[in-house]
Amino acid sequence: MCGIVAYVGHREACPVVIKGLKRLEYRGYDSAGVALMNGHGLKVYKKKGKVVALERELEGKETHSTIGMGHTRWATHGEPNDVNAHPHYSFHRKLAIIHNGIIENYAAIKQALLKKGHTFTSETDTEVLGQFIEDIWENNGGTLEDAVRLALQEVVGAYAIVVMSETDSTQLIAARKGSPLVIGVGEENEFFLASDATPIVEYTKDVIYLNDYEIAVIKEGDLKIVNLDNTTTTPYVHKIEMELAAIEKGGYDHFMLKEIFEQPRSIADSMRGRVQADAGILQLGGLRDYMDKLARSERIVIIGCGTSWHAGLVAEYIFEELARIPVEVEYASEFRYRNPIIKEGDIVIAISQSGETADTLAAIELAKSKGATIFGVCNVVGSSIARATDAGAYTHAGPEIGVASTKAFTAQVTVLTIMALEAAQRKGTISESLFRQLLVELESIPAKVEMVLQAADKIKEIAYIFTYARNFIYLGRGLNFPVALEGALKLKEISYIHAEGYPAAEMKHGPIALIDEDMPVVVIATKDSSYEKVVSNIQEVKARKGRVIAITTEGDTDLPGMVDFTIEIPKVHSMLMPLISAIPLQLLAYYIAVMRGRNVDQPRNLAKSVTVE
Ligand code: AGP
Ligand code: GLU
Repeated sequence: MCGIVAYVGHREACPVVIKGLKRLEYRGYDSAGVALMNGHGLKVYKKKGKVVALERELEGKETHSTIGMGHTRWATHGEPNDVNAHPHYSFHRKLAIIHNGIIENYAAIKQALLKKGHTFTSETDTEVLGQFIEDIWENNGGTLEDAVRLALQEVVGAYAIVVMSETDSTQLIAARKGSPLVIGVGEENEFFLASDATPIVEYTKDVIYLNDYEIAVIKEGDLKIVNLDNTTTTPYVHKIEMELAAIEKGGYDHFMLKEIFEQPRSIADSMRGRVQADAGILQLGGLRDYMDKLARSERIVIIGCGTSWHAGLVAEYIFEELARIPVEVEYASEFRYRNPIIKEGDIVIAISQSGETADTLAAIELAKSKGATIFGVCNVVGSSIARATDAGAYTHAGPEIGVASTKAFTAQVTVLTIMALEAAQRKGTISESLFRQLLVELESIPAKVEMVLQAADKIKEIAYIFTYARNFIYLGRGLNFPVALEGALKLKEISYIHAEGYPAAEMKHGPIALIDEDMPVVVIATKDSSYEKVVSNIQEVKARKGRVIAITTEGDTDLPGMVDFTIEIPKVHSMLMPLISAIPLQLLAYYIAVMRGRNVDQPRNLAKSVTVE
């Protein structure tokens, strides 16, 4: 949600900032802008729409500047338009500000400023903060850095901000609380700032993750970090491993398609160094010291949102079945507001691709305050959630740019499965032979995913037939029920077709009323203990003329005669089936969305990391 990029150094800032904003486009936004310090002083250019619209706006303008900052806005206060876009000038135009997040007490600050005779051009909370900083600066006599610090001491809410001023044309001041900011330490005394590392990796691998309540004062060649109470902190420079190729499309039409096709590798990466089937060994390095605690725990609570919540539902089945530990799976947004019962010693597992989801972060803080031990399952290294947890395991799926989560889901499920298997082994609730069998089968997953991907053309043909469907139902049982939910979420996110996921047997308690010849029903009907029951559910749909697309196990000769379309997937132990059965549903959603002409990688209204509650 929203992107921040800034630069100070020896390069031309504008192209660095624009390119960076494009790298952050996947996060979702509605307008874009830049501030530069050219021969005419502090200049702001901004435009509603995509970064290309801003580029057009900049054509023919004087953009020469070796300092600059840019922003892609995801509107919270005031509609998306040119005026509300960031950067915002302060009242006397001494500074410009970009901001990600929400200033909750902006109305009170605005009232006070209005009384002093200020006027506002936009409806944003951000402009209020900019004017507030300038007002303190003008009236307190200190430096801009002092003014930023004093202003932020008064602010309630979440923010990542960058401030530029005409008074010191080589200085960037940045601060964060609740929204991410990464500083890149480049060559020849240059610095980069961005919401995540993707705009930075092509210039440098040395980054500093700014912490909450920290202010970075950056000048060419000089970086100082202070806390809100003005104590200086020593930054820790991390080496990031991300490669540039990982954040580019590599010949695919969309990032989403690339990421779907990357799954054989990303699943293998999430197991690398953790699963050794021949030796019968499993280990999650990041959880080594906590594994006994997990195995002994009386209860696990899993929290997450969207796709990560679905991965949690899959994990519930696996933990309960293999490790016999009761699991509750909660939407982080509900958990945080309902005084949940958490006892000292409870384990909370927070799942998040981005590691920046505001609801999940707040739920973690609440669980921590009640004495729980928190494990994180995150994809983005160094993200806020990864840093807020007691221990954890990265999913190692690589950067996920498409807003609709695909490879992150299968990587989350892989890591959670490893966690459950290790806990089960320590607890002695799994037989050695099943343990060994599951390790061998886990290692075979990448090759099996590859086989599903080879059916992409067939799935495309089915997608063509249903391109203009108005509704979809997805059914599955057991571990395939969360997969049905995930399949429905994928379709609605990127094609804007209404879709619902249900446990297959629950259909007769209501949704069956929707079935007629216009209703496509996707049924995950793989050969497992509930196969016969699912076949009965299919017959109930067929009896009402619904059109069934069945995901079947290879070699199933019964279903093809019974349903309208089948998509075969390889056999695998039912505990691992979601890793395979999710793939055709991702492809189906993708092709339908493409055929409908949707913006697959950046669907309307959605953001990749949801940093507001
Ligand atoms: C997935 O396709 C969605 N874009 C969304 O539901 C996402 O899973 C959710 O916002 C949680 O994000 P996180 O994993 O980064 O915390
Ligand atoms: N609250 C600010 C606005 O509406 C910032 C939104 C964002 O994070 O992009 O302008």
